[in-house]
Amino acid sequence: MINKIAKSVEELCQHDSSGHDWWHIYRVWNLAKLIGKKEVVDLHLVELAALLHDLDDWKLSDKNQEDLPNARRLLAENNISKDILEKVVVIINEVSFKGAGVETRPTSTEAMVVQDADRLDAIGAIGVARTFAYGGFKNQPLHLPNVKPTFHKDFEEYKSTRTSTINHFYEKLLLLKDRLNTDTAKELAIQRHKFMEQFLEQFYLEWNQEK
Ligand code: NI
Repeated sequence: MINKIAKSVEELCQHDSSGHDWWHIYRVWNLAKLIGKKEVVDLHLVELAALLHDLDDWKLSDKNQEDLPNARRLLAENNISKDILEKVVVIINEVSFKGAGVETRPTSTEAMVVQDADRLDAIGAIGVARTFAYGGFKNQPLHLPNVKPTFHKDFEEYKSTRTSTINHFYEKLLLLKDRLNTDTAKELAIQRHKFMEQFLEQFYLEWNQEK
């Protein structure tokens, strides 16, 4: 049944070019299983939430999608019970990053695991690649040396602030290693975080190349 849902998600995400394509979902699914095995969780809930977590993401549509129509439809089509469906919806709604100054602490271990998996895929080399893909998707410039990063005080500010892709590292990506929930994810984040710092160092070196 999980594989059938995975197949449907793959079909729905196949044309994405914003960094939220099927392979992002696949990596998050795998990371969630890896982290989930070391925690006391209902792995079935973790897997379902990981697979469906981006189907109704606010970043990819203009509407407020808190009700998760796509995730609900897929779960219902696969005869998932109402009880499990509602639990998965709660988990998915707790996964998303909502701004530099906004605390988003999940209320279940299942949500902590999926949030960690999603955050790990937002950092490291893959994080760098995905961030520039997303920046292109949003018509953002790579770097604006005179625009400082924003420390968003709420979700509205996070959604509405136009920024550069380099600023996004300071507004989100470099903050993530300290916003992980599980020890497994914290351990996996060390190397990924270091790589982003090295990337930025090299980026500025080239940007400020002396004539
Ligand atoms: Ni995601």
